[in-house]
Amino acid sequence: MKPEKIVILTGAGVSAESGLGTFRDAGGLWSEYDLQDVATPEGFARDPVLVHRFYNARRANCIAAAPNLAHAALARLEQEFPGEVTLVTQNIDDLHERAGSRNVIHMHGELMRALCAACDHRWDAPPEMAAGAPCPACQAPATRPDVVWFGEFPYQMERIGTLLAQCDLFAAIGTSGTVYPAAGFVAEARMAGAATVELTLEPSEVSGQFDTRQHGPATETVPAWVEGLLA
Ligand code: APR
Repeated sequence: MKPEKIVILTGAGVSAESGLGTFRDAGGLWSEYDLQDVATPEGFARDPVLVHRFYNARRANCIAAAPNLAHAALARLEQEFPGEVTLVTQNIDDLHERAGSRNVIHMHGELMRALCAACDHRWDAPPEMAAGAPCPACQAPATRPDVVWFGEFPYQMERIGTLLAQCDLFAAIGTSGTVYPAAGFVAEARMAGAATVELTLEPSEVSGQFDTRQHGPATETVPAWVEGLLA
C-alpha cells in the first residue's frame, strides 16, 4: 500500500557528504570538543567566547558547504509526492532548505538564527556572533545561537508528536539513535501503525526497532529510496 503521510527524521549523516562533520563517528565533533563545554547552557554561562567561537566555526563550514544528492532527493520527494512529506531534522545547518525543502522542522534549532536569552527575540544570525553583543530588540547582552543545547527542550515537540501519530511511513536518515527524544520517534511511529525504515551508514542504536534498514552512504541510499517511493 502506498503511504500518504511521510515523516522523515534526519541527522548529521545526511550532511556528512557535504563536508559537515558528524558528532559520534570516528573523528566526529564530540571527539574534538567536550559537549559539556560547547553544547550546554552551563558551558555557555562559563565561557560564552568559546561557545560562540565553536558555533561561528560551524556556521562558516555550513556557509561554505553545498547540499548533496541526499538533500536534493528529499526536496524532490516533497515536491513530487502526492501526499504529505515532513522533514524533522536534528541538524542545525540549512542544507535541506538550500536544496529546496520547505516543510522542515528544526527540532534542535538553526545555526543561521540568533536568540536573545533575555527576551526570546529571534533574528538572522550574522556570520560571526560575539559574546555580550546586545539584542537588537531589548539591548540585553544575552545573545546566543538559536540552537537547542543538552538540558534544553527541543522545538515543536507537540507538532512532531501529532505528525508521528498520523504518519503511515517513518524514515530515519543519518542519525545514530543516541539522543532522545528523536531516538524515540521510531517507537512512536510504530505505535501509530506506520511502516519504518532506517537509512544510515551503519546500524544505529535503535536499528532493531525499524521494519527495514538500508546501510550505505546517504547520497546513494536516499536517492534510490525516493525513486522507489515516486515510482
Ligand atoms: N550517510 C548516511 N549516514 C551516515 C553517513 C553518510 N555518509 N555518515 C555518517 N552517517 C551516520 C552514522 O552511521 C551515524 O549513525 O550518521 C549518524 C551520525 O550520528 P551522530 O554523529 O550521533 O549524529 P546525530 O544522530 O545527528 O546526533 C544527534 O546529537 O550532539 C547532538 O545535537 C546534536 O543533533 C545532534 C544530536
